[in-house]
Amino acid sequence: MPSGAERWLITRYDDVVAALADPRLSNELARGLQQSLPPEPLPPRWQVTLRTSRPLGRAMANLGPPDHDRLRKLVVRAFGASRVDGLRPRIERGADELFDAVEGLPRFDLVEAVANRLPVTVICELLGVPDSDADLFRTAASVLGGFQADDEAALRTVAALDAFDAYVRALVAERRATPGPDLLSELITTPADGSPLTDDELVSMAGLLLFGGYEPSAQLIGNTLLALLQHPDQLDALRADPSLLPRAVEEAIRYDGPVTPGLSRYALDDVEIGGTTIPKGSYVIVGVAAANRDPDHWADPGRFDLTRPDATRRLGFGLHYCVGARLAALEVEIVLATALRSFPRLRLAVPAERLRRRAGSVRGLVELPLRMD
Ligand code: HEM
Repeated sequence: MPSGAERWLITRYDDVVAALADPRLSNELARGLQQSLPPEPLPPRWQVTLRTSRPLGRAMANLGPPDHDRLRKLVVRAFGASRVDGLRPRIERGADELFDAVEGLPRFDLVEAVANRLPVTVICELLGVPDSDADLFRTAASVLGGFQADDEAALRTVAALDAFDAYVRALVAERRATPGPDLLSELITTPADGSPLTDDELVSMAGLLLFGGYEPSAQLIGNTLLALLQHPDQLDALRADPSLLPRAVEEAIRYDGPVTPGLSRYALDDVEIGGTTIPKGSYVIVGVAAANRDPDHWADPGRFDLTRPDATRRLGFGLHYCVGARLAALEVEIVLATALRSFPRLRLAVPAERLRRRAGSVRGLVELPLRMD
């Protein structure tokens, strides 16, 4: 890796599916963290690593069984289809407001105007956080997934995580006293296998839903629209037949998805994958992005094609299968539908070669300047 750390990288589709289904390749990354810490005083970037592991350390995405299963059961129940579908009017209203705000402008940046805004609004609605506090969530979400270019950025990240932690703790106390119809209240009031969630677990869950729910959805909005604008035949097909919307989102996740290069795992034991033994104690990147372009699995994998047979789920597999998959798809579909309906002549405002990719662990665009005249 650029940092000098050693990682195994799994790239073939079949090996990636096998790795994600293998409980010996664990999400409990913190298990190896203590051994790899540099001596005190810790440099700011390491402080971020440790500090991030506090709000997210008790989050199920970073745990294995049985703790993972206890938390996951609870959130899956609270995240049922009726709650997700109930968010549709709020997402549609949010998308309408954001696109109304840019109507009539000669050009606008989709990333700033829409993609960075809508998913945070949705997570806030889900957790029962008032719109007026969404900025605190937006800052925390962007630093959690961000790249610390220097020590100053690393220290700003630590401060934003502290603010998020304090805010959610206060919100949890408020909802314990007066539960509302939101998901956070449901997590507080429904016992998980008899033992209620602790405050630390609730803060971690809120952090996970924010981080898991904001960053990839935001980046996927930009990546999907860019793929469509670069493939006018596919865009025309979608305009002619809006029932292709779910396919457009699925295909964008495969063709230019936000999970790049892949998902991190820690080998609890020696594990053989594709004829190679990964030794116990290794860190592994399960290369979802490479698997999504594996020519042994996908015909003509470099082609963006809405008519591709929908053979697979692409938001992760196995134990940690994305709990927000339905919500994410709904968000991106609503943004696309609103954009295409509102702006029949939508197109790139700069040549595609001038677009820059953002740094960080989630693949997306720095900006996506568009014109609609
Ligand atoms: C385009 C958007 C999204 C993408 C590409 C995505 C992708 C993923 C992937 C690949 C995983 C598996 C992680 C692993 O195996 O280590 C995952 C897990 C998860 N996702 Fe998503 N996700 C998206 C949106 C969302 C949304 C909107 C939410 C919630 C509001 C969410 C919540 C979660 C949670 C809580 C987990 C952890 C599940 C577990 O550990 O059992 N995600 N997501």
